[in-house]
Amino acid sequence: MAGDASAGSDVFKTECSECHSVKDGRNKKGPSLFGIVGRAAGTAPNYKYSDALLQAHWVWTADKLHGYLSQPAKQANPGTKMKYDGLTDSKQLDDLISYLSTIH
Ligand code: HEC
Repeated sequence: MAGDASAGSDVFKTECSECHSVKDGRNKKGPSLFGIVGRAAGTAPNYKYSDALLQAHWVWTADKLHGYLSQPAKQANPGTKMKYDGLTDSKQLDDLISYLSTIH
């Protein structure tokens, strides 16, 4: 993957850390993103997901994350409760996903 993980860590802090932690088991407004790349959607322990994500039968690959994070409401439509408009800058998205794939 082409992204720069250390730049991605800054993107995470600015865009995601209000609602997400990358610590195993630490849910905030959103579920923990520990090990998110390669994890099945809607499976963080002790987190109450929307039906939209509980019924999402996919694994979070880099491609899936790209799609979801650029337009959360569209991809998991209807009813994801992730209130985030989306990150449209594809360089920032690549960096962010590289960063997330280092968290295991
Ligand atoms: C305003 C709060 C908020 C922000 C900001 C936010 N999220 Fe979320 N996120 C949520 C919530 C709430 C959910 C649970 C959605 C559901 O159950 O429908 C979620 C779900 C997710 C999921 C699915 C997790 C799973 O276990 O299936 C991913 C991946 C994700 N967010 C990544 C991100 C990333 C990366 C960012 C930053 C670019 C971000 N989110 C920004 C609140 C937020």
